[in-house]
Formats: sequence, structure tokens, C-alpha cells
Amino acid sequence: MIEYDGAHRAFILTGKRFSYIMFVNRAGFLQTVHYGMPADGDGYLFSDRYAGNKSPDPNDFNVDAQQDGMPCEYACFGHGDYRAPSAVIIGGDGFRASRFVYKSHKIYKGSPSVDGMPHIRRGGETLAITLADELSTAEIKLNYTVFDDSDVLVRNAEIRNAGKTAVDLARAYSFCTEFADADFSIMRLAGRWAAERTPITTEIDYGTVRIESARGASSHQMNPFAALIRRHTTETAGECYGFNLLYSGSFAILAEKSQYGMLRVQGGINDFDFGWKLNGGETFVTPQAALCYSRCGLGEMSREYADFFRNYIIDPKKVNAHRPIVLNNWEATYFDFDTNKLFGIIDEAANLGVDTFVLDDGWFGRRDDDKSSLGDWFVNTEKLRGGLKAVSEKCKSVGLKFGLWLEPEMISEDSELFRAHPDYAMTKSGVTPCRSRNQLVLDFTRKEVVDHIFNVVKSVLESCRIDYVKWDFNRCLTEFYSASLPCDRQGEVAHRYMLGVYDLADRLTGAFPHIFFEGCAGGGGRFDGGMLYYFPQIWTSDDTDAYERTKIQWGTSMCYPVSAMSCHVSACPNHQTQRMTPFATRGVIASLGATGYELDPTALTDEEKAAVRAQVSDYLDIEDIVLGGDLYRLCDPFTDNYFCEMLVSKDKSRAYIVGERHRGVPCDLDNVVKLVGLDRNGTYKIHELGITASGKTLEAIGVLLPRLPDYGGFRWVLEKIN
Ligand code: DGJ
Repeated sequence: MIEYDGAHRAFILTGKRFSYIMFVNRAGFLQTVHYGMPADGDGYLFSDRYAGNKSPDPNDFNVDAQQDGMPCEYACFGHGDYRAPSAVIIGGDGFRASRFVYKSHKIYKGSPSVDGMPHIRRGGETLAITLADELSTAEIKLNYTVFDDSDVLVRNAEIRNAGKTAVDLARAYSFCTEFADADFSIMRLAGRWAAERTPITTEIDYGTVRIESARGASSHQMNPFAALIRRHTTETAGECYGFNLLYSGSFAILAEKSQYGMLRVQGGINDFDFGWKLNGGETFVTPQAALCYSRCGLGEMSREYADFFRNYIIDPKKVNAHRPIVLNNWEATYFDFDTNKLFGIIDEAANLGVDTFVLDDGWFGRRDDDKSSLGDWFVNTEKLRGGLKAVSEKCKSVGLKFGLWLEPEMISEDSELFRAHPDYAMTKSGVTPCRSRNQLVLDFTRKEVVDHIFNVVKSVLESCRIDYVKWDFNRCLTEFYSASLPCDRQGEVAHRYMLGVYDLADRLTGAFPHIFFEGCAGGGGRFDGGMLYYFPQIWTSDDTDAYERTKIQWGTSMCYPVSAMSCHVSACPNHQTQRMTPFATRGVIASLGATGYELDPTALTDEEKAAVRAQVSDYLDIEDIVLGGDLYRLCDPFTDNYFCEMLVSKDKSRAYIVGERHRGVPCDLDNVVKLVGLDRNGTYKIHELGITASGKTLEAIGVLLPRLPDYGGFRWVLEKIN
């Protein structure tokens, strides 16, 4: 619900369990009053002192320097506020200061259009406040969308040049909000290839915490997410705030504690190496950001984000439908395969009960290693006699669907495409390009390059029955240069690249609605809310080790649904860590997401084959809870010797618990796990333990964790019997 109090020029936004309150002060600035637990917009709030203004004399609005203590909804530069601004607008004469004041507002049902970028698909109610910059020709529209059934508030900003001569944007963030105190710690999800999204929490103190990627991708190293956490907040209690950008490119989220102890949080497209020329009449639209408030700990924040993504971002036709249970040949064969080998794998896969065979990297051009052929999206008939059609038909003949790997954004120098169009690569002539995995990135800032890739990929997808696509992206951007852009527009490259990627994803998913697309970026290098708009699931990490995965999946679940995580059982010794883990453990850990297999089924023992069949059938029993249930994180693999998570169906009639004990430790006996999240008044049966107990008891007292060997895993299914 959105209310406007005209007497005080105040805006009161109410989501499911939060309020967001602002008002226009006497100087015309839009001031944050409150963000957090539900409150009313009582009139006394809209005097400057209550509104959190910490300036020495907040009544003196003739002095713009007072802005330095003012909680701002979109922060100005160079006119009295010395904290980080939300936008930097450079006029034709080089003048850069700004003074954003209220101009008008509008409240409407629905959400703003964010052309060419991921966005809320439906519902909501939106407040759009237009601010005029008194020091330039820019106007800024701040959009706020709330939902009755969500604790998420979606924000973005649109900057319009209302003048006739061009201005340059040196920064254009999506949102800014302020807190009257900075008594928080801040969590980020940091990592590296094969070790993505480790939750790292640090204290906030004077100065700025900057969480960012400047790689042209949201990145393995830092997810476009941050959470503010109150001192005593835990998984199940206390306040926290999430900030999650629906964006897959270079980003920045800043948390700045000011001289007066206030906290400003803002973010959007990374302003490092960013510039955007805005001609008269043009508008720059920033990506949407999903803010989430929880009074019930980190767990509740995660569940709210999961619901938000499932209800408002992910394709509704795919989100709760059965997911392909794939067998992928990457770790089975790498590049070394031919039709015979694949047919053997396909036959065996069909016997195991999986439903889709995915042909990974190496089927095209002359690609026998990672040195060539990206861009040559035509089948290598020496390796695959009969082409893709033969593989697809083979799959069909044994009752499997067929999936295909593609890396549409890349080009190898050793490729037909590069020989014909060297200019398609994002390089600078005369400069040796920075190669990564021996490949270059295509210049997706250019429409003709995106069009070319659309057409060739379209032909591949039309060449035979293809049911699934894995869209990979194995290196980040370098050079950040497009020969097609003038020198004063080179700062636009990283964002224009992302717009090209979104355009291609939109056109391909639109043209092939029957195909299930999975996102991937050298593992989890682009696991973000932007990609989830196009791809209902993303390959979580190239690390398939069942111990490492407990940590990666735990971290990822902070702000994404488990149904978005693609998780595979792989062979041991694990290819990334050389660790041995029991087959059963690999199965249960991979069941906490969209499950599948990444191994050579012809190399499995009979016992392992039977285990796969049982795992697939067990998974199908609980798939609805994995896709649509609520996640409760019970034992933290970063701090405990156990990992344990529970998924509870929305009606609380069933629950699914998965756990793993890491290592044998002396005297580590009879630990109890409390099953938070069940119906406290219901009675549950835990089939595997033969226990019947009330939800109350299971939550208050809990059950014993099993004694297990190193890396032993378990799964329990709970059913409510009354
Ligand atoms: C990186 C992916 O994450 C892997 O699963 C595999 O598809 C390789 N790329 C193929 O090059």
C-alpha cells in the first residue's frame, strides 16, 4: 500500500511486514524518515529532527551545507553533502554539482518498465517521485514498488536529460537509503572460481564499505548483494536488511558511516569505468534493486528473497514445473568424445532414470580443447557422425530429452568467425588482447554482433529437437573498448555489453519457449537476480565436491531460492578437490536444488547405478518441496561440524531435511538439531527415524543428528499426520 500525506508532503509505503517512510523537507529535498518495522506516518515525524537529520542546525535550510547530515533518498554531489553521491551529472561546461529537489509524484498499480533489463514481471504498486536537479537539466525519477505479500521493496532510478544539450553521467545508482544509526555489521557473498558466495560479515565503522565487481560480470568474486545485520541478529531472530541488485554486470554497493554516525547505503551499476552520454530528451534507466527487511533473522530474509524471485522474477511457466534431471557429459569426457562414446553414455543414462542428456563443450567447430572454435556454432561431424540430429534422435529413442551447451558471448581467435570478423571481438587494434581460457569476448555492445549470434544459435536450436540449453560464460571482460563507439562513449561499454547479453537472452528464450535454459558462468560467476529473469536455474559452481557444496549452497541460499541452484552428483575422487565422499552424500547434497549428474554412467558399479535410480526416485518425491518450499538453515557448515538444511512445504504438511557430518572429531556425540519452521501445533512422522512428535517438540528440543563417518550424509522426510 502506498499513501501520500499532502499536508506534510510525506510518503508512507507499506509492504507485507515493513514500512518505508519519506517526506519532502522545507528545502525540497526528499528525506528518508524510516525503513524497517511497520510504523504509521504520524504527522510529528515530519519535522526535521524526527526525520533523522543530524545536521548541526537542521532548521537552517538556507545553508546547503546542512545536507551533510541529512538522510537523502538520492544523494547530491558538490553542493554541501560530502558523502558519496547517488549520481554525478556533468554539464556541457564541465560543472558537476547537483541539487535534487522534489518536483512531482505519481502512484499507480503495477511496476515501471525497465526496457531491455530484468524486471518485476507482474503485480505491485509503484510510487514514482520525480526530482529536478536545480543545477543541471537532469530530472530523476525514483521508482518504489511494494507488494502486499512480500517484504521486498523494489527500487530504481531513471535519469532524464530535460534540456537540449548533452550531459554526461559519471555515476547513476539505482537506489539510496539512509539509517539514523550505523549499528550494523555488513555481510557480503565473496569468493573465487569454484568457491563462490561465502558469507563474510564485518563491522561497519566510519568510512565506506564498498562491495563491487568491475569485471563486466557480477562475478565469482563478489555477488551483487549485501545485508546489514543488527548486533544480536541470528538465523531466526533480529533485524536485517538485504540489498540485491537485479543486474549481471559490474556493480557497486556502498555502505558509508558518516561523521554523525548515520549510515547511507546505495548502489547500482559500478561507477568505476562508467560514463554515459545523455543527449537532450534521453533517459538512462538504472537496474532494479530488491531491498528486503526482516525482523526474524537472516533465515526469514532468505525466504522472502526466495519467494520474491519465484513469484516476481523467474519465468512463471518454468518456476514450479518439473526440472530436467540431467546427465551432463562434461566431467565424464571433457573434450574427448565421439558418437560411440556418447551413445554408450546415453544408453546408460536412460537406464538410470534421469530424463535429459546434456552434451557439454566440444561438439562444434574443431574444438578438441579450449583453444579454438568458439563462435563456430556448427557441429563437428568428425566427432559426431550424423551431427546433433543423431544425438538428439538417439536420446529420443531411449526416452531422454536432449540438452546442449553453448557459450554465445565468446570467440576464439582460432575460429572461422574470427577469421571472417576479427572486429567482432572486444579488442583494441594494436593492443595485444588479454586472453583468458584462450578466448576473447564478443563485442555485444554492437547490435550486428548480437544479431549474428542470435541467427547462428537459432539455426542450431532449430536443427533438431533440443529441449535444454546450458548457456556458459567462461571469462570476464577486459579492454572494455568498442571500436564502434566514439571516444567519449567508451565508458558505456560494460553496461552496453550487458544490454546486449540481455537482448540475446530475451530473444532466444522468447523464440524457443519450449527450451529450458540454464545459466552458467564458469560455474557460478554470474549467479544473480538479473540472470534469473531469463534462466530459472544457474549452475551453482564448478566445484561439485559434496563438502565444498554445502558451503557454496549455504551462501547462495542467503538471497536466492534453492530451486535456482543447479546441483550435480559427480565422480570421486572429486575432480576439483580430489576428496572422496560417499555416493549417498553426493546425492543428498545435490538434491538441495535442481538435481542432476555429472559423471560417466558407464563407469559406475552396479551398486552405484542402483543408488542413482533410488536417488532419482527419492528426488521426484520431494521435488515440489525443493522447488516451492521454505528453506530453514539449521547447521552452519562454516562454523559447525554438521551441515543441515530443511525445506518445508508452504502448507507445512511435509518437510525435507538434508545433512552432512564433516569430519570425525573426538567426543562429537549426540548433537541435537532443532527443527525450526514446522507447524508447532501439528504432529509429524520422521520416516527414516521412526519418530512421531509434535512440531512444538521438534522445534523446542529437536532430534539427534546421526553419528556418521567422515562426510556422511543423511536425508529425512517428514510428514504431518495431524
Ligand atoms: C564451465 C562450466 O561451468 C562447466 O560446467 C563446463 O560447461 C565448462 N565450462 C565447459 O567448458
